[in-house]
Amino acid sequence: MEFAASKRQQDVVRKTRRFVEDHVLPKADRWDKRSKFPMEAWRSLAKSGLAGLPIPRKYGGGDQDVVSYVLAVEEISKASASLGVTLAVHVSLVSQPLLWFGTEKQKMRYLKPLAQGKQFGSFCLTEPRAGSDVVSMESKATLSGDNYIINGRKYFIVNAPIASTYLVFAMTDKSLAHRGISCFIVERDMSGVKIGKTFDKMGIRSSMVSEVIFDDVQVPAENMLGRRGDGFKIAMDALDCGRISIAAQAVGIAQASLDSAIRYARSRVQFGRPIADQEAIRWMIADMATDIDAARLLTQRAARLTDLGRKHTKEASMAKLFAASTAVEAARKALQIHGGYGYMTDLPLERYYRDAKITEIYEGTSEIQRLVISSELL
Ligand code: CAA
Repeated sequence: MEFAASKRQQDVVRKTRRFVEDHVLPKADRWDKRSKFPMEAWRSLAKSGLAGLPIPRKYGGGDQDVVSYVLAVEEISKASASLGVTLAVHVSLVSQPLLWFGTEKQKMRYLKPLAQGKQFGSFCLTEPRAGSDVVSMESKATLSGDNYIINGRKYFIVNAPIASTYLVFAMTDKSLAHRGISCFIVERDMSGVKIGKTFDKMGIRSSMVSEVIFDDVQVPAENMLGRRGDGFKIAMDALDCGRISIAAQAVGIAQASLDSAIRYARSRVQFGRPIADQEAIRWMIADMATDIDAARLLTQRAARLTDLGRKHTKEASMAKLFAASTAVEAARKALQIHGGYGYMTDLPLERYYRDAKITEIYEGTSEIQRLVISSELL
């Protein structure tokens, strides 16, 4: 395993940092306070070629490896975890499955504008009564002539209010359980697609999350992604990659927390000396730094395995499990080091703390990651 980033990977990080410094850092707090999605920043992100990093140039992407892509997600999430998850869902849960399972026609029509950042993608799996237990989904797709008719309700869907392309999972044959789930490419403009309730969230407040309702939506049969019954596999393959990008998001939040804690501990004087001289603070900083390095290494190992085309289900779950708890703990410690100042909304520490929590929940809770890891081992 390589421990140093290659020249190409360093170039991606440099480019991403430039974008973040110019377009994200100065405004991320304001977006969070207003719960406003930063469309202007997304346009700049797309212009910088960051909207489809691991997608081949032929389909509008940046032709970079997955390691570079997760480094970019980390850099963006250091400044805005909301923009981080917008990109992570767009690329890992929508563009990558389209690349792996799409026909040439589907890739040209749907993947290209996504990879160029001209449109947003959204992944419609979760339902009000089907979260961790995917197979209990109630959405149905029924074949009628050359079309499938989709009916169902998807919940907590990241990017849904801004997306034009939805990957929608629905039962085509309930009696076959997971083998009866199929995946469809649905367009926002298709008749019967409705955005329902938009959720007000504890964290990642400037990302857009809503309900999507499919009410007798007629989708051409050629919009099926993969074959009939492939939906569960497509969802799991997408999540194997998505979990790596959420791990990268968590590493970004944790690193931002540590950077703030170090700056503050050096400058804050109490009892006649910087608090960085206190052993209690030093230990917290040492523990945070060690956990963040371990989380980053797990994340990059899983990304590297993806680049090598090797199975990485267990490694992706380990990375997400560890990085998520690292983010929550690093944000908590950094806020504690800042004392009362950390609790106030003038500083981003409370935002890091709120944003970190979701990494233990979405794309499979930490309990589901432990289930996946133990199933792979046993
Ligand atoms: N890759 C490939 N195949 C897989 C797989 C994987 N990662 N995981 C399971 N499979 C296969 C199994 O080998 C099995 O194959 P067979 O048909 O040969 O038997 C089949 O799929 C069924 O597997 P299980 O019996 O293990 O399935 P299960 O119903 O018990 O579920 C689970 C397994 C791991 C719990 C899965 O349901 C899961 O990951 N749940 C969590 C769902 C999740 O992460 N949701 C997040 C929503 S999306 C989101 O949050 C995005 C966002 O908005 C940010």
